[in-house]
Order: sequence, then C-alpha cells, then structure tokens
Amino acid sequence: MKKITVAVTGAQGQLGKSIHELAASYPALEFVFLSRSDMPIHHFELVREFLQGIRPDVVINAAAYTAVDRAEQEKDLAFQVNGEAVGVLAAWCAKHGSRFIHVSTDYVFDGDSEKPYVETDPTGPRSVYGASKLEGERQALQYLDQSIILRTSWVYAPFGKNFVRTMLSLMKEKESLRVVNDQIGSPTYAPDLAKAILDIIVSGKWVPGIYHFSNAGRISWYDFAVAIQQHIRSACRVEPIPTSEYPTPAKRPAYSLLSTEKIRSVYGIVPRSWKEALKECLAKLV
Ligand SMILES: NC(=O)c1ccc[n+]([C@@H]2O[C@H](COP(=O)([O-])OP(=O)(O)OC[C@H]3O[C@@H](n4cnc5c(N)ncnc54)[C@H](OP(=O)(O)O)[C@@H]3O)[C@@H](O)[C@H]2O)c1
Repeated sequence: MKKITVAVTGAQGQLGKSIHELAASYPALEFVFLSRSDMPIHHFELVREFLQGIRPDVVINAAAYTAVDRAEQEKDLAFQVNGEAVGVLAAWCAKHGSRFIHVSTDYVFDGDSEKPYVETDPTGPRSVYGASKLEGERQALQYLDQSIILRTSWVYAPFGKNFVRTMLSLMKEKESLRVVNDQIGSPTYAPDLAKAILDIIVSGKWVPGIYHFSNAGRISWYDFAVAIQQHIRSACRVEPIPTSEYPTPAKRPAYSLLSTEKIRSVYGIVPRSWKEALKECLAKLV
C-alpha cells in the first residue's frame, strides 16, 4: 500500500523532534523532516519550492516563533512566522490537495475564564505572541478551511527549552526558587501531542477545525515545580508567588486550561494525566 508522505516543519523543535522519535511506530507514514535551516518558513518562495519537490500528502507545521517575551519587541517577525507563513503553507496545501495540520496555543485566550476553554470560546490574546498565533489560525482556515488546528499549552519535552529542564537546572544550583502560583493551566508533554497528531493522520478520518490538546489536570506553575522537586527529591525550597512579583514583558493568561472533550469525542484521543507524563519525561532526564 502506498505510504502517506508527511512533511514536518520545525523539525528541531520540541514537537518536531518528538514526531521524529515516534516516526518508526507509524509504518504507514513516510516522513520528510524540515528544520529551520532546511526550510525557513518565512521565506515564502523557498517554502513553495520545497513543498513542490516533496509533494507531501500532509503538512504538519511544528515551526513557530515561540520566544513569547521577545515577540513584544519583534512583532513583525512573530507575525511573519506565526501568521503569514502559516497562510503560505495552508495555501500550498489547498492548491495541491494536501492535508494541513497546524499547532496553536492557549495564549490566544485572555485568561479571564473560570472554566476550561472550549474551541468555540471567544479569543482575546494578551501578548504579541498570542496575537500572532491567532493570526496563524485565521490564515490557516482562510486559505484551507479543511485544516486541522491543535491548540496546546505549556509544552515540554526531554529536550529543548522548557520549564521542566529549566527547573531541573535551577534546583541543582539554588537553595530556593520562587514560582508563580496564580497562572492556571495544564502542561503538555510534546511526545503525547506528537502521538495525538500522528493518530489523527492514521485514523483515516479527517474532521477539520480547531481542537484542544493538553495533558489532563489543572495546576499552577508552582504546582508543576513542586512536582518536579518532589520527584527528584531536591532540597531546593519552592515558594509560591503571585505573577505581580514576577513581571515579564509579555502578559500571560491567568487561566488557560483547555477542555479536551472535542478531541476525545471526535478522535477518541484521551490525554493522560500531566503527572504520569511528567514522570516519563523525568525518567529520561534524571
Ligand atoms: N512551547 C510551548 O510552551 C508552547 C505552548 C503552546 C503552544 N505551543 C505551540 O506548539 C508548537 C510547537 O512548539 P515547540 O514547543 O515545539 O516550539 P520550539 O521548541 O520553540 O520549536 C519551534 C521550532 O520552530 C523553528 N522555527 C522558528 N522560526 C522558524 C522559521 N522562521 N522557519 C522554520 N522554523 C522555524 C525553531 O527553530 P530554532 O530552534 O532554530 O529557533 C524550532 O525548531 C508551536 O506552534 C508553538 O507555538 C508551544
């Protein structure tokens, strides 16, 4: 049987690498991994040329400008990568009959909710990064209304730049740490997100639209740090602080828990608990 060719952008990122690591478990899929140096997605002509050469059946866009705070100063670049480039990828897919899977963020929401966000809830990004990702969603659906968009939150992996790896190194160096306790959400283990994406592709069922995916549970960054500290039995003290004591250039939503009901009911994808996923990640790191 002919394999499904899948092109993955942002191949060196947390999600891109996680997809790479899972690739061998999906024999029906044939992958082409494109890192930023192979194919910078904001070089639109190059993107079209590359895709023309590969002719993928599916494009997964795991590339993004993810420097949330720096984006406040680099608005144009953030919008080019997270907005316009997404439109270019989606338009190519639309023209060539390919499927498009794009990844977005909980930061498209304002964080004023008190219950888990569903896909149809109004958006209201508080940061340039969030606004640029929202523009990417808009462009994906404008150029290809058959796109699938997965919004996710607090992504981490055994590699890359993320909260878990930062905490592990700080807990080795410091006697105490202060971590915000009033931003609520749920972490997402990148390999779990990667699996959800690949399971959608091989399901043989394509239901376009926006989906939310994160691990299950409801915690603060402080809770997350404590869980890491307890797991590694670190002597480092973790103290809860309000966001007001940890100012950052970009505003984060105070509450960004994503309801994963839709992906469960449409695709039967049931995210495991954040604790179980964290344990698996830490087992690889310590
Ligand atoms: N990380 C999070 O906490 C988080 C939360 C919610 C949603 N998301 C979304 O989840 C998706 C995956 O994120 P991630 O955590 O895997 O991010 P990541 O680790 O930062 O990976 C993003 C990748 O995109 C690449 N990239 C940046 N600009 C590019 C460009 N112009 N052309 C091509 N590649 C480019 C980066 O390359 P370099 O390494 O060379 O910069 C990096 O390899 C993104 O859509 C992100 O917005 C992430």
